[in-house]
Order: sequence, then structure tokens, then C-alpha cells
Amino acid sequence: MCGIVGAIAERNITAILLEGLKRLEYRGYDSAGVAVYTNTDGVQRRRRVGKVSELEAALASDPLVGQLGIAHTRWATHGAPTERNAHPHFSSDTVAVVHNGIIENHEVLRERLKGMGYAFASDTDTEVIAHLLHHHLKTLPDLVDALKATVKELHGAYGLAAIHQAQPDRLVAARSGSPLVIGLGLGENFLASDQLALRQVTDRFMYLEEGDIAQITREKVSIWNSDGQPVQRESVQYHEGAEAADKGEFRHFMLKEIHEQPRVVQRTLEGRLGQEQVLVQAFGPQAAELFAKVRNVQIVACGTSYHAGMVARYWLESLAGIPCQVEVASEFRYRRVVVQPDTLFVSISQSGETADTLAALRNAKELGFLGSLAICNVGISSLVRESDLTLLTQAGPEIGVASTKAFTTQLVALMLLTLSLGQVKGTLEAGVEAELVEELRRLPTRLGEALAMDGTVEKVAQLFAEKHHTLFLGRGAQFPVAMEGALKLKEISYIHAEAYPAGELKHGPLALVDKDMPVVTVAPNNELLEKLKSNLQEVRARGGELIVFADAQAEFRDGPGTHVVAMPHIVDALAPILYTIPLQLLSYYVAVLKGTDVDQPRNLAKSVTVE
Ligand code: AGP
Repeated sequence: MCGIVGAIAERNITAILLEGLKRLEYRGYDSAGVAVYTNTDGVQRRRRVGKVSELEAALASDPLVGQLGIAHTRWATHGAPTERNAHPHFSSDTVAVVHNGIIENHEVLRERLKGMGYAFASDTDTEVIAHLLHHHLKTLPDLVDALKATVKELHGAYGLAAIHQAQPDRLVAARSGSPLVIGLGLGENFLASDQLALRQVTDRFMYLEEGDIAQITREKVSIWNSDGQPVQRESVQYHEGAEAADKGEFRHFMLKEIHEQPRVVQRTLEGRLGQEQVLVQAFGPQAAELFAKVRNVQIVACGTSYHAGMVARYWLESLAGIPCQVEVASEFRYRRVVVQPDTLFVSISQSGETADTLAALRNAKELGFLGSLAICNVGISSLVRESDLTLLTQAGPEIGVASTKAFTTQLVALMLLTLSLGQVKGTLEAGVEAELVEELRRLPTRLGEALAMDGTVEKVAQLFAEKHHTLFLGRGAQFPVAMEGALKLKEISYIHAEAYPAGELKHGPLALVDKDMPVVTVAPNNELLEKLKSNLQEVRARGGELIVFADAQAEFRDGPGTHVVAMPHIVDALAPILYTIPLQLLSYYVAVLKGTDVDQPRNLAKSVTVE
């Protein structure tokens, strides 16, 4: 989604701002802009629709030079993706503001500000912040005081930064519902919505907390909390994740991240497995005590993370005997929920900043859950900070908008949860935990074997290049894997894809099947195999083309209209993790064939921080 970068230094900061915006490109955006305080002409800006490279070209032909500036990539919410709606927004050519999030009372504020004589130059909610700040500066000339007065009038979510022509020695920022981090340098300081944007200038960061307001000068960072009290926020040194900065030998971040899976799954398991048991304390010192009381689990998440939760439901019920419900966060947060006694609330999120998931967690706190657990890839995220227990996935920064390694590491974390709950409650069948711990140790190798099928899957992808619709089928815990496969294909290749539990085929979707609608199936060798084979016969009988990812022992044969890709054998419980790999590769190669923007598909954002 939108991205913010800010800088104050002795050197020219324009290149730093541009580099920061480029590093945030993966989040998804449709326009970009920069405002710089110049010694000659005060605050000046350049904005462009499209890629940061367009903005870079504009700056090359009409440069801005200065030591203070803010920059932004915008993902349109209020107002079309046009240059006039791109940030930074100005008030009276002296105040510049960039903003992530949504100001819910912008219409009321807009009318009030119009009444005071302010003319609006955009359709955005953000512009009200610029004018409101300018208005408060008339009575509160200090920029940070004016910002404090401004945010008191804002309803909604914001991470924002502002500069003022009359105070070129500072940059101010405020956070409520949308993350901001300060990058600490020597004689220079920076600001961003994601520390990845600043990795080229510093490895020391200070994360703003909810309600914080900050004033950043070259030498000093001052922070006030939501009560207006001056506070210190801890500074952290960040070493990890340098590998995320470039694609290495790979053509796209997505392909690089798919191939990282054996390593990041290994990292997610590290320190969490004993000889024959999962180490329950990996979930935190109070985990064992809390888990012992759990009688139900409620999982809430969005998108790919929701699919991970759906797989976990099969595991929790079949392996640990614990009833589990799974729901998308945007539904959960707005309905009246009946909470069963002793229910553990589990949220799953790669970013830990997804607005709906965070809101669901906040609602859950009012609803009498036993406690909350976050399964998340970002240790400093809001979701982690606000949950009782955390299990961090160790996927490292995920740049491709299409989630890949985050999903498989979430599944690993959820298997650890299943085994931990079963262990503490004594509900696992004898030997199951020891067997699965052993199989988890072998999983990175199995994933490597699945990745070696890369070339085979690339050939299969050619079957899809001219197709407009596809069906993905799975049974049991492979049904959510089919859903994830369909989501991947639609989000990066723009081919319409639907997923069904194979048993539902004849209750409707079979009507769609013909030679132009390929049917993709994941078929591990389990007790549902024979039933799945019958379902696939139904497809062939209607002329449908089948692509089957099947266990080598499952005796599927290639034939006219049936393309079988043999998968390495794996214990059934872990099959959802393994079978995800070829579906990721399939969508990747189809997208490459179609020439779409694989890492930044149209209309999508990496981290959905607005509703
Ligand atoms: C997956 O490919 C998507 N980009 C999307 O569905 C994503 O999983 C969803 O927005 C949830 O994000 P989160 O895991 O960061 O909460």
C-alpha cells in the first residue's frame, strides 16, 4: 500500500528519498511524489502517476536539491490515481504532508476548512491534514504543537509526515493505525513507513507506537505519546534481511522467494524442535499454562494467511482433537461473535499490519477469549505487540506481492501449534508427535525436491497461456491448498481461477468444465485418493483437461487430456506444505508467459493497512 519516506541531513536528500521509494515499490502503488525544502524556492514538489522511475525521470530533468524532504508512493483510496491526487499535498505552498491510511471524517473537515477559505486542489482525504496543520500553525507556530492539535481532530488511521517552509530544521510525524519507523544516522535522521526503505542509509531504527508524535531534526529525535507525555522509544539495530534488497540470480522477487522456502522453513523450525517433541516454550514462557486451558481455537486472517488458517483447522481437529473455527478478518470484525468458553484467538499475518486482522484482534480482546496468539513474520509489528503470545515465522522480508514463503512458514508454525496444543493437552495419538517432528526435520529437503520440478512445471504452464478460466480441486487439507493455488494464479496472471473441494464438483461447477477450462488437482496418496480419482473421471468425461500433481505412489497415469506431475512422497499431514510449491511455480510461469507484472500485480498492495 502507500509508502512514506522522509529525511533530514547535511547532504542532498533527494536521492535518499527516491531510493527509499524504490525499496517500497513492492507494496503496490499507482503514483509517487517528493517534496523538498530548497534554499532558493522554499518547499517544492514533483509528482508523477505510474512508477517511481517516472518520478526519477522528472527529477532528472527538473532537479530538487535540499537537506529536508518527504516522499510518498500512493495507492488510491479517495480520488483517482492522478498527479493532482498524488502526495505530498500542500497548503498555501508552505506546508507539505504525506499520509498513509484513511481519514474517516475528511468530508466534515473539508467543509469546515472550505468555510475558512481553504481551496482544495485534490480529491484526497489527505489534503485536509495539510490545511488543518496550516490552520493550527496560525496560533501554534511551533510545527510539532500544530501537529498535536491537528491529529486531535482526525478520525481514522494515519501514519503521516509533514514539513513547513518556516521551520526547515525539522520534520514531524504522527502514527495512529499505520506504522512509522525512524532511521537513526550520525548528524542525519530519516523516517519511513517500513524500515526496508531506509536500509541503505542506516541499520538503527526506532519504531513509533500507536498515538506517538515525533519531531526529527538532524541531531535529535523527540517523541510524545498519546497522552502528550515525552517518551523514549527503544532503538534497535537491525542486521537481518539484507538479502531481501535484490533479486540475486532470479528474474523476479517471487521466484527468488519461492526458492528460498527450504531455507526459511528450516529457520522457522530452528530452536523449536526437541528430540521427539515440539518445544512449547517457543510460543512464550506462559504458553504451556495457557495452552493447557484451551478447549477451542478461533483463527482469523486475510488472503493467503486465511488459507493457512484453513489448513490448520484440519490439523487441529484431526491430530489434536481441538475444535477450530476459521474466519476472514473483515467478516469476523463486523459480526456478533459467540465465543465458546476457553477459546484461544489466533491471528495469522505476514505483515502484522493488515488493518482487518488487527481490528479483529482488538475486537477479540473485548469478547472474552482465553488469550491471543499471533503467527506473524514481522517481530516489530502491531499484531505481535498487541498479542499475548507470538510465534514468529522466519521467512525474512517478502517483497513479491504474491505471498509464497510467508505461507509455507505459516503452515510450519501452525503445525508446531497443533503439536504443542496436542502435547500439552495429551490429545495426540501415541507416536504422532515424534513421527511428525522427524518429518518436519526432513521437510526442507522435500521442499528442495519439489523445487527441482521447476522445469517440468514451466512446461505445464504453457497449457494456461491462452486460457481465461481455471478450476483448482483438492480434498481435505488440500482444499485450502487448492484455494491458495487459485488465489496465486488470479492475482499474478489475471486468469480467473476458482477452487472447490473436489466432492462439490457435481453440485454445480461441473457445468463449467469443457476443453477451455483446465482443472488443476493436488492429489497426495491418502484415504481420499480413490474418491478424488472418481471426481477427476467426471472432469475427463466432459472433455476437461486435467493437470494432476500426484504422489508418485498414487498411480495416476499421463494420457490424452491428463497431465500428471509426480511429486516426492511425503507423510500426509505435511502434504499441504509440499503441494503448495508446484502451484506457486505454476502461477509464476503462467504470469511470465502472459507478461504481467509478477512482483507488483495491478490493483494490489503488499500490506493492506486500510480497510
Ligand atoms: C497473498 O498473495 C496476498 N498478497 C494477500 O492475500 C495477503 O496474504 C493478505 O493481504 C494478508 O496479508 P498479511 O498476511 O500480511 O496479513
